[in-house]
Amino acid sequence: MGGFTNLIVFVITFLSFFTAISFSSDTLNSTQSLKTNDTLLSANQTFVLGFFSLDESRFYLGIWYGKIQVRTAVWVANRDNPLEDPNGFLKIGDTGNMEIVDRTGKTIWSSNQTAAAKNPVLQILDSGNLIIRESSVSASKNPLWQSFDYPTNTLLPGMKLLYNFDTKMEKHITSWKSSQDPSTGVISFKLDFHGLPEIFLWNNNTKLYRSGPWNGVRFSGVPEMKSETDSIKFDFYQDEHQLYYTFNIGTQSLYSRLTVTPDGQLQRLTWVPDNQVWNPFWFAPKDQCDTYKECGPYGICDTNASPVCTCMRGFSPKNIQAWNLRDGSDGCVRKTKLDCWSDEFLKVQNVKLPDTTSVFVNRSMSLMECGGLCKKNCSCTAYANIDITNGGSGCVMWTDELVDMRVYTDGGQDLYVRLAASDVESASGGSKNNVESKAIGITVAIVVVLVGLLIYFLWKRRKLHRMLECGTESRGGFERSQDSLKKEPTFTSNRRNSSESEMDELELPLFDFNTISTATNNFSEENKLGEGGFGIVYKGRLTEGQEIAVKRLSRNSGQGIEQFKNEVRLIARLQHRNLVRLFGCCVGMDEKMLVYEYMENRSLDSILFDRARRSILNWQKRFYIICGIARGLLYLHQDSRFRIIHRDLKASNVLLDEEMNPKISDFGMARIFGTNQTEANTIRIVGTYGYMSPEYAMDGLFSTKSDVFSFGVLVLEIVTGRKNKGFYYSNDELNLLGHAWNQWKEGKALELVDPSIIDSYSPPEVLRCIQVGLLCVQERAEDRPTMSTVVLMLSSETVLMPQPKSPGFCVGRNPNETESSSSRQDQSYSVNEVTVTMLHAR
Ligand SMILES: *[C@@H]1O[C@H](CO)[C@@H](O)[C@H](O)[C@H]1NC(C)=O
Ligand SMILES: *[C@@H]1O[C@H](CO)[C@@H](O)[C@H](O)[C@H]1NC(C)=O
Ligand SMILES: *[C@@H]1O[C@H](CO)[C@@H](O)[C@H](O)[C@H]1NC(C)=O
Ligand SMILES: *[C@@H]1O[C@H](CO)[C@@H](O)[C@H](O)[C@H]1NC(C)=O
Ligand SMILES: *[C@@H]1O[C@H](CO)[C@@H](O)[C@H](O)[C@H]1NC(C)=O
Ligand SMILES: *[C@@H]1O[C@H](CO)[C@@H](O)[C@H](O)[C@H]1NC(C)=O
Ligand SMILES: *[C@@H]1O[C@H](CO)[C@@H](O)[C@H](O)[C@H]1NC(C)=O
Repeated sequence: MGGFTNLIVFVITFLSFFTAISFSSDTLNSTQSLKTNDTLLSANQTFVLGFFSLDESRFYLGIWYGKIQVRTAVWVANRDNPLEDPNGFLKIGDTGNMEIVDRTGKTIWSSNQTAAAKNPVLQILDSGNLIIRESSVSASKNPLWQSFDYPTNTLLPGMKLLYNFDTKMEKHITSWKSSQDPSTGVISFKLDFHGLPEIFLWNNNTKLYRSGPWNGVRFSGVPEMKSETDSIKFDFYQDEHQLYYTFNIGTQSLYSRLTVTPDGQLQRLTWVPDNQVWNPFWFAPKDQCDTYKECGPYGICDTNASPVCTCMRGFSPKNIQAWNLRDGSDGCVRKTKLDCWSDEFLKVQNVKLPDTTSVFVNRSMSLMECGGLCKKNCSCTAYANIDITNGGSGCVMWTDELVDMRVYTDGGQDLYVRLAASDVESASGGSKNNVESKAIGITVAIVVVLVGLLIYFLWKRRKLHRMLECGTESRGGFERSQDSLKKEPTFTSNRRNSSESEMDELELPLFDFNTISTATNNFSEENKLGEGGFGIVYKGRLTEGQEIAVKRLSRNSGQGIEQFKNEVRLIARLQHRNLVRLFGCCVGMDEKMLVYEYMENRSLDSILFDRARRSILNWQKRFYIICGIARGLLYLHQDSRFRIIHRDLKASNVLLDEEMNPKISDFGMARIFGTNQTEANTIRIVGTYGYMSPEYAMDGLFSTKSDVFSFGVLVLEIVTGRKNKGFYYSNDELNLLGHAWNQWKEGKALELVDPSIIDSYSPPEVLRCIQVGLLCVQERAEDRPTMSTVVLMLSSETVLMPQPKSPGFCVGRNPNETESSSSRQDQSYSVNEVTVTMLHAR
């Protein structure tokens, strides 16, 4: 599920526009036609109908805002049938259809309107609706055809996501294929009318996100939705004929739209006229817990917990091993079997109600009747109110597993879950026979300890056995590894059906020492790719021809082999196109090695800081690299199943493949080498200090925001082609951060750009990157954006960005200089002498 959650604001800025000659009219009659350089303007100029092209070769009929400079398409007629050249036009066909005709006179797209019309006209309305009506009939009456019935990727105020029970007609929004290609993409947002209706975000056939059912006020999974107080009014309507979701805007001057992006996001954007940008007011999925079924059946996701998945009371993890690896997708199982008649119900508060696609619903029952019915029906697993207004009403009853729940600190609903009576009691903490239960408790504890010891010894024996096996592993073992190598993607997809011991073998290829030794030509000097703090890296080639990179760990990780393998297995499961792929490991009695995919173009620093080679990376490539690193880091911080803080992000840890795709390497090392160790603590202190956040350098505090700091440094380095030398900058000069900050303040930020990309750079993109970079290196960790915001800011030309405050460590200091001279120091800068001295002393 890796790539889909990337946060990209999808604002379509038309690259090319025709010098539009607008009909000073909003209507087109059957004798007129609309050429590719004509437009229709709605009465109040709110919306425009016309042709557009993003690449000058495919032309689409679309609707966009008339008063917004950032051209934003909200509807596309012929998204899958573009005109191949500008010599086409729109007309009203003989049957009253709207038709797009190409140069040869062929109709390439038709509205397929069937009702006969005498004198049809086409009209673009101020709501953004394009209608076909009888010229004699008012525009406010039901039209013959309307574009609002055929949404593309955007829901405008008044448009509906709809399901009609009588006609089985269904209307949903579907993303573009990419930001430059309006054709039908794979991401959609669609009503599910089964059970208690809710809306799902889909990636082709996979559910990404669920809104939760409508509770009369908002969706159960969107606690931040407040209809009454906002100027946006949401409506979710259901009767026996139809079901729809829509929203309306109180003030005409506010522009708001709901859209699905090609990379899997649902976004509500509102236009901020003062800044001339579309602001992502709301989006989903916004965190790990929004991912559909993140914690499996009976698992509850809580973003404030670590790990995020917990079992409901009375339940325990089904697959404890996966659970400990922070993979909660197998969910939880009951501790005590239900016996139906004596069962009781536990109230769970503030939850997003579980998936309601196959529930029993009765809207006129009270909560008490609902509970009574649920208790009587042995297959009923939980119940809740449907509507939370007026103290609650309606009954929804689950009869199978409860999936996709999360808790909120504020704003969820109450869910009553069926548990064996004993589990409800222990959950509520009250026990009447205190002495007796204590005695039982002690007995149980002793038994548990004994059994535990037994299991431990058995396990130990098995482990020892395995360890020996691994060190001298035979060809058989290697071939097995190779098999799983070839079927790479099955590493994780097999997870569900594999038992725990199978999981070992399937998911972590173990390479035997001889294979690796042969592949690297006996770890020869010629095969050496580089040397880092964790060991020497060699290039290798397996007998099948596959190229690999082998990191031979030089230091003792202080871990047992089983623990090491556990960590490696966990890291190997982090898969993202911007992370270097870990294929497996090789463990012997006194050797530990990691086997990675081989990256043609080595590391970013070897190109970026090399005078001769840096021009290989033009601006487009650099920008692409920045965005890739951001996405990789976002994945580590947020989208992977467990949070990983890199701790040592820097140019030499960004590798480039054949096509210059950036991939982050050395992530997860902290897991192997224990918490506080980065390369910085071992060697090459100066190199890495440049990337260290103040709070880490001073207090050893590390959070995702420290990674954000390192990312900011990296961005500034990529833009400027200069290395940030930390505070070891000679002659009291400002270091890169301080220099960049000064230039930014003086409005001369473009002077920072690496001279070797002067021909290729795009000023707005560069400025955006510098601003993002400076935001990331702000002194206070709280001020720095999260990686999801960074990705959003990088990918949208229109998102609001705050002004950066001064960066951490922006004053250069010669380490030999010891006297304090704060008078020379601009007070707004953040590093004081104490800090520098202290660090130097380390
Ligand atoms: C269409 O509009 C044009 C320009 O207003 C007018 O001359 C023409 O008669 C109209 N045709 C019909 C069928 O109404
Ligand atoms: C519009 O396009 C047509 C066909 O390409 C061309 O003949 C005409 O001059 C254009 N009109 C304007 C005003 O550019
Ligand atoms: C157009 O603008 C006028 C004045 O601003 C307003 O009274 C009218 O309601 C608007 N018409 C529509 C269709 O929005
Ligand atoms: C109109 O009908 C044609 C032929 O059935 C079909 O190929 C086309 O997709 C339809 N157009 C629309 C907009 O539904
Ligand atoms: C979507 O799913 C269908 C059916 O499973 C599959 O054939 C198709 O290749 C998928 N499309 C994409 C873009 O993944
Ligand atoms: C819903 O519950 C009410 C009150 O208990 C009952 O009268 C009605 O028949 C139920 N409707 C359905 C469809 O079960
Ligand atoms: C329990 O409820 C389910 C769902 O409404 C229903 O299919 C089933 O027949 C009920 N069982 C009993 C024993 O009432």
